[in-house]
Amino acid sequence: MDSLNKLKQSVASDAVTQDSGLTRRSFLQMGGLGIAAAMMPRWSLAHIDSGFAYHYRLTAEPAKAELVPGFTTDVLAFNGDIPAPVIRAKQGQPVRIEFTNKLNEPTTIHWHGLRIPIEMDGVPFLSQKPIMPGETFVYEFTPPDAGTFWYHPHMNSTEQLGRGLVGAMVVEEAIKPDFDVDEVLILKHWHLDKKGGWKALTRPRYAARMGTPGEWGTANGVNNPRYNFRPGSRVRLRLANVDNTMTYQLRLKGVKAQVIAIDGNPVLNPFPFEGHKIGPGMRLDLAFVMPEAAVANNKVVLEYQLGKFGFPIANFASTSESALPKKPLPKLAMNPIPVPDIENAETLPFVFEWEGAISPVDEKGETHDTFWLINRRPWQGMGPGNIPDPVADLTLGKSYIFDLKNNTQYHHPIHIHGHTFLVLEIDGEPVTPFYTDTVLLGKNGRAKAAFVADNPGRWMYHCHVIEHMKTGLMGYVKVS
Ligand code: C2O
Ligand code: CU
Ligand code: CU
Repeated sequence: MDSLNKLKQSVASDAVTQDSGLTRRSFLQMGGLGIAAAMMPRWSLAHIDSGFAYHYRLTAEPAKAELVPGFTTDVLAFNGDIPAPVIRAKQGQPVRIEFTNKLNEPTTIHWHGLRIPIEMDGVPFLSQKPIMPGETFVYEFTPPDAGTFWYHPHMNSTEQLGRGLVGAMVVEEAIKPDFDVDEVLILKHWHLDKKGGWKALTRPRYAARMGTPGEWGTANGVNNPRYNFRPGSRVRLRLANVDNTMTYQLRLKGVKAQVIAIDGNPVLNPFPFEGHKIGPGMRLDLAFVMPEAAVANNKVVLEYQLGKFGFPIANFASTSESALPKKPLPKLAMNPIPVPDIENAETLPFVFEWEGAISPVDEKGETHDTFWLINRRPWQGMGPGNIPDPVADLTLGKSYIFDLKNNTQYHHPIHIHGHTFLVLEIDGEPVTPFYTDTVLLGKNGRAKAAFVADNPGRWMYHCHVIEHMKTGLMGYVKVS
């Protein structure tokens, strides 16, 4: 348990340095120099000038977007824009988001990965009433952790996320690390044909397997966008997989990068990036120094791998400016997530299984397929009258180890709300413990993930392959 003690110490000492952050402000502002000018695509803004630093106005609404060049697609979009605005907040400071539903159906917004009070978690019926068309709901919370997070509706998710309601949320550190470039890339495959027309977002045949993949790959709504960085820039890339289905096996060609954070949470010791899988809902922060002469065929390319082949997600070229002077890559402070008490933790087994069941037609004449189970039980169709018992009743303040077992041959990114797991073991092997809100279980994979149940409420606990969630693979834990 040596690594756990180390973790405990550094979480505690980082919490101290974070508090003294503000006095270093003028020093920090120099960090922005040298950001290369040409960046595409452009982010839209949601910020309101109200004197309150982190105050946003956000809508969800039908809109048109050019995703496939030359063609227009009807999408659902935050503030009418693809990509959605990046919501920037600061660790330990309140953020307020005035959200108005301009869709013609109810919705809610969930802040994925944030440890915030249940009232702000954005899950219909469990944590709030659905926001009806035309209604406004004010989300207000203080993020305790810094990092790369994201936001999305938690209703009719196959459609609402699938058609575009996915956005990044960046919680800046109390002391901002001194990167020259800080770029967000949200990865999504759209279910579009070559002319930007919609194809089916879900097909039972695929929902019962790995999920229905989209065919038009994008980063920030653009197919293989180009970013230009000044050579020598210390780049922080914040990758977020906001796709309904795809697990991306990522790699970066043309530069050596470090993994500095997993699912928003800094790792204790950054390690070389040699390929990494991120499932739906997951994030990865990489850091690298932009090489000189990364042009033409020597560009830095972010790819995902399918079998032997690599497909570009985005590419990065160096500008012709002179190189920035050499400086070490900044180190991120650990987030103040409680370290679970492993010795006294209670272990709870969770088995994820497949069941092929086509449930009978309901009163509206629709069939509901059930394909997936947590501990032999599916949960589908959230509604005021359809809240089952929790899959686990947890005691506030107590430490737990979730022993996760995937008895299927498909990937399942298992996500918990309101808490952050500390992963101890994967496939029976101990790992250097790391924090994450989503654990990716591979084919017949296992994992042990611990946490302190320190946030009271009823918290969703589900697979983030949206079709798996919608066909049974979801539940909630109750902390009280
Ligand atoms: Cu992205 Cu229930 O979560
Ligand atoms: Cu979540
Ligand atoms: Cu799944």
